[in-house]
Amino acid sequence: MRGLILAGGLATRLRPLTQVTNKHLLPVYNKPMIFYPLDSIIKSGVKEILILSSSDHAGHFANLLGSGDQFGVRLYYVIQDNPKGGIANAISLAEEFAGGQNLLVVLGDNIFGYDLKPAVEYFDKKGKGAIVFGVKMPTESKQYGVIEMDTQGKVLSIEEKPEHPKSDIAQTGIYMYDSRVFDFVRNLKPSQRGELEVTDLNNHYLKEATLECRLIDWWIDAGTSHDELLRANNMVAEKIAKGVIK
Ligand code: DAU
Repeated sequence: MRGLILAGGLATRLRPLTQVTNKHLLPVYNKPMIFYPLDSIIKSGVKEILILSSSDHAGHFANLLGSGDQFGVRLYYVIQDNPKGGIANAISLAEEFAGGQNLLVVLGDNIFGYDLKPAVEYFDKKGKGAIVFGVKMPTESKQYGVIEMDTQGKVLSIEEKPEHPKSDIAQTGIYMYDSRVFDFVRNLKPSQRGELEVTDLNNHYLKEATLECRLIDWWIDAGTSHDELLRANNMVAEKIAKGVIK
């Protein structure tokens, strides 16, 4: 399994904080935001990690994170020329890096405490399909992808920011894919907002019945709004004080 962190995009929702810097470099309590998804991937045992960002900010990530030696992993960097290409477009840029192996993708603004190691080991053994990770979010799931499941945990549908959510389970920005993911991306068409959507990609796996969903306990998308960024800061401070994270 190889790792990919998406730290591109325009982050217009966080302006003016993101006018001259990249969202994923903003502080969340005592660390830059990207440290949290990076730490989650490192703990999962994945040792080769690609950081995707825009040409404006790629150097900042290299300055901050370097070769990865300080974390005991190997880091690589790639530029997404079109910052509005969409998450699936960003994933496609990891094809050469993945080199036919499975891929663990984590959005650079996602902070969570879930231990990905067992899922990585399970998926590497299984070898085919995809896993999405959901979280129960009764009030706000409208602004995320929404996963509908039956009582056995089988995924029935995934919709991107639906007006009328079919469940209270939000799709997080954590995904595991087999090596066919790049073929699936090649068949995607841009959505109404002009992006190649990760939800459309996940629906390819759903259609062939190789998609699984795992529920995680706490998760926050620090990049959605100023309020969520503030909430992420407070939540991380609280988790550190309680010893839940370091
Ligand atoms: O965070 C979870 C949500 O992420 C999911 O529930 C949604 O299904 C999924 O579409 C996505 O929604 P967002 O609207 O929050 O995505 P956003 O455009 O904010 O991008 C998420 C991250 O991906 C962000 O850290 C920047 C990065 N990104 C995004 C785009 C569009 C890229 O690196 N390149 C891109 O082209």
